[in-house]
Amino acid sequence: MTWERKDLLGLRELSAAEIETILDEAGRFKQAAPEGAPLSGRTVAFLFSEASTRTRSSFEIAARRLGAEVLGFSVANSSLLKGETLLDTLWNLEAMGVDYFIVRHEQSGVLEPLAARTKASLVNAGDGAHEHPTQALLDLFTLREKKGGLKGLKVVIVGDIKHSRVARSNVYALKKFGAKVTLCGPQSLVPADLAALGVTLSHDLDAALEGADAVNVLRIQLERQKQNLITSVGDYYLAYGLTAERLKLAKPDCIVMHPGPMNRGVEISSHAADGPQSVILEQVANGVLVRMAVLSLLESRRKK
Ligand code: CP
Repeated sequence: MTWERKDLLGLRELSAAEIETILDEAGRFKQAAPEGAPLSGRTVAFLFSEASTRTRSSFEIAARRLGAEVLGFSVANSSLLKGETLLDTLWNLEAMGVDYFIVRHEQSGVLEPLAARTKASLVNAGDGAHEHPTQALLDLFTLREKKGGLKGLKVVIVGDIKHSRVARSNVYALKKFGAKVTLCGPQSLVPADLAALGVTLSHDLDAALEGADAVNVLRIQLERQKQNLITSVGDYYLAYGLTAERLKLAKPDCIVMHPGPMNRGVEISSHAADGPQSVILEQVANGVLVRMAVLSLLESRRKK
């Protein structure tokens, strides 16, 4: 299909066909390097007001592989700290020739009003507890590759669902492809209203793992918690930590996923994280391909 969108803000608004287009493009990049330099002459900048290892680095590698220039811009050393708004920052960088902004921000929904006021393309690299579309895309890419398809798969997402943009983007996307999603965690971290998204809610990981094709383990986001939503890290690990023992309750070929950053001994044991069923580092590798696909499709629309 022809790509029509200027920005990638979230997966809720994308059709299954659009998501499939991105995954297929990523698959082509897995088979062969890009022909030429499709983003030659383009400049990519990062507006990250939250820390990142995987998303920022893989976008940077993706942009360079496509021939783009990457601006060494850091929010921490910028005039945002002197009170300049994000929109003014964006307009100023756009005036210098920036074509793509990869944005991570603590505020949910911050990108939509910005996208409407710039000709540059915006990519959501995680906004508050709203969406993290490229993480979910790389999760789907990995699932599809490992399982041969998404329809009918049972995917258990366990952890801090309440604060997780990764969980939301995964739910939006997986549901479009007919996967069965279970969101699991303590009541304080699994909001009941998420059942409206057509998912199963569970507070019992052992029961939830039965028949699971994949378990996606999320970090407890202590930095977003305004009150103590878990009694203790030790209690949490006992009830919801994914261990090699617990993994035996799932299908024998159940894959272990984690978006990172991982807190070993809090939400996952090292045996589960590094064991034969883990695809965590494959997810990371696929992240570069998916981000190349996103930039390449956005560029195809800009060139029209
Ligand atoms: N998964 C993810 O977003 O990781 P980073 O925070 O390291 O980018």
